[in-house]
Amino acid sequence: MVDKKKPGLDMQVTTLWDYPSQNYGDGKQGDVNYAGATPSYVIWNLLKRYTQEKALVIDPMCGSGTTLDVARDLGRRALGYDVNPTRKDIFRVDARKLPLEDEKADFVFVDPPYGTHLNYSDDPRCIGKLDAAEDGYYQSMEQAIGEMHRVLKPSRYMALYVSDSFVKGKGFFPIGFRLFGILCKYFTPIDHVAVVRHNKTLEMGNYRKAADEGNFFLRGFNHLFIMFKEPAQKPARTSEKSKEANKGKHRGARPWGRKPGGHKPKKN
Ligand SMILES: C[S@@+](CC[C@H](N)C(=O)[O-])C[C@H]1O[C@@H](n2cnc3c(N)ncnc32)[C@H](O)[C@@H]1O
Repeated sequence: MVDKKKPGLDMQVTTLWDYPSQNYGDGKQGDVNYAGATPSYVIWNLLKRYTQEKALVIDPMCGSGTTLDVARDLGRRALGYDVNPTRKDIFRVDARKLPLEDEKADFVFVDPPYGTHLNYSDDPRCIGKLDAAEDGYYQSMEQAIGEMHRVLKPSRYMALYVSDSFVKGKGFFPIGFRLFGILCKYFTPIDHVAVVRHNKTLEMGNYRKAADEGNFFLRGFNHLFIMFKEPAQKPARTSEKSKEANKGKHRGARPWGRKPGGHKPKKN
């Protein structure tokens, strides 16, 4: 990530987010040298919009701790986990089995590995060792997403930040949409944002030439999926007659039929 001039930090108001630096302000959030560090303004925008002071923010794949630094900057409480902790305030934990009681968190942010191109650690539990072309990656991510759902309080938000991938000789892997499909089994979609990437490689001549000549595209944006955990529903009082009429109809958790604009973000 190129660390260019830092403009002031404003709330993003469209579904195309852009900020030309890894960190904001004079301080540091996470470590710009950590391969795959999340741009801190992304987390700043989410926490400003969806949480209040003292809210408990969780990052189950915390990396260099960007989420912890942003959360504390904003007066939120934060807990970070990773199979490869890079600092003392991150707990060595597998995101597929979080050591947290049900419904404790006010917000969950996660920026998971998406393929084997970065070697985060030698820990065999690292999901970055699983090829995103294979089902095993999505099965592991579903376990982690299930845990995020379990620890999040009802009526709260979570966000997942991820890129698709193009591998020369193998083709395009729509990782974002596959993970979005899994997220929708657990949560209600609130929005989908495209976050402009400022990775150094995007500006390098040899990468650009290879993309041009090879008829493929360099990844210019990351997906940011913003999701909502519905409050627990009271068991419906259903008569025998309506049970019979509804037999065979799909009653899954996917809320595609919700009224557009019917959702009002609420800070916790
Ligand atoms: C893209 S990085 C996260 C970057 C982080 N948001 C930051 O700003 O530094 C993905 C992280 O997921 C961690 N990870 C991979 N598999 C994991 C697992 N099973 N449980 C917890 N963390 C895992 C990796 O060690 C790596 O630090």
